[in-house]
Amino acid sequence: MANAERIKTAVVGAGLIGGQHARAFAANPRAELTLICDANGERAAAVAAEYGCAATTSLTDVANAAVDVVAIATPDFAHYEPAMTLLAAGKHLVIEKPLTTKTAEAVKIVNLARQKNLLVTVNLGLRWSPQFNTVRASLEAGEIGAPVFSYYRNSDSIYVPTKMLAWASQSGPQWFLFPHTMDLLRWLIGQEAVEVYAKGEKRVLANRGIDAFDAIQAMVQFDRSFATFESSWIVPDVYPAMVESQLTINGEQGRINVAGGNQAFELTSDSLGRHLYDRPSKWSFYQMPDWWWGAGRNLIDVLLDGGELAITAEDGLRVVAMIEATERSIATGKPVAIDAML
Ligand SMILES: NC(=O)c1ccc[n+]([C@@H]2O[C@H](COP(=O)([O-])OP(=O)(O)OC[C@H]3O[C@@H](n4cnc5c(N)ncnc54)[C@H](O)[C@@H]3O)[C@@H](O)[C@H]2O)c1
Repeated sequence: MANAERIKTAVVGAGLIGGQHARAFAANPRAELTLICDANGERAAAVAAEYGCAATTSLTDVANAAVDVVAIATPDFAHYEPAMTLLAAGKHLVIEKPLTTKTAEAVKIVNLARQKNLLVTVNLGLRWSPQFNTVRASLEAGEIGAPVFSYYRNSDSIYVPTKMLAWASQSGPQWFLFPHTMDLLRWLIGQEAVEVYAKGEKRVLANRGIDAFDAIQAMVQFDRSFATFESSWIVPDVYPAMVESQLTINGEQGRINVAGGNQAFELTSDSLGRHLYDRPSKWSFYQMPDWWWGAGRNLIDVLLDGGELAITAEDGLRVVAMIEATERSIATGKPVAIDAML
């Protein structure tokens, strides 16, 4: 692999996000996009025509194709089957978040990838955000001291479950949004979740015929701090953005705040003796403007140059376990240990 000039790639599930994976592969000089697969033949053909590559509705065609890397961007609940089929066929994978919607399935993906010596990464794009890399650098520099408690809200306009997603009833804010926030906080503070206690409400969306949570709050005990994650799918349509978010990390000597919308960075630091707004953010991994697709690019770089994946299947598994524990806690009204999920 190290001598290959360009890595041959394919996309399975060519909807809104699969189309973006196709664009990212096509724009990557180290990748060659060769095949688009979608259960909807018209959609597969339309995306393939954009990039001058082949189209299919058959996963078997992808398994048999001479491609090394496949991006899987089927709906949340439909990542497992293509992942297992394509790993069995020897493909490296970039899987959309969440890795799966069941911990037991995520464990099987991790194990098969290990057994076949294949790389699996998860597209958790916030890890490449310049703002959040600035937050991580600040934490690593000890500017606010050790984290004590955090709050992370990330919600979507009601447009997302009612108009954008055809499969909202088979997902929810927990599967659609928590993967980003739960993974990002683990990565920022360098701690793993131990236990989750959560509450959720199904009312507004249920009244509109969608079986999904309106909102969830999950209180998570990490190794050495705790956090509340909040996620809603009923932000009013008139809110000026589709996504709304707020992250606050409180440390022993200060606080970091990243307001959604403009993603302004705010640092209150005892050790620096000041309060800063809008500190310029730095590019961390890639200079490319479409940093959101860093996971696929990172996978190709690791295949060609060696090194470690930035985001592993194990990261994806930890997050799936946190979300399934959240669902279990809502259902039972009790705290749920993460280890009990694994
Ligand atoms: N990383 C991000 O920022 C981000 C943002 C939105 C969505 N997503 C994730 O991307 C994934 C796809 O979301 P989307 O918004 O593109 O959905 P979508 O409904 O627009 O697209 C899904 C596509 O998959 C196809 N499909 C369904 N089952 C299939 C199968 N078994 N084999 C092949 N094709 C199949 C559908 O025909 C459709 O074209 C989800 O997991 C979602 O959570 C990620």
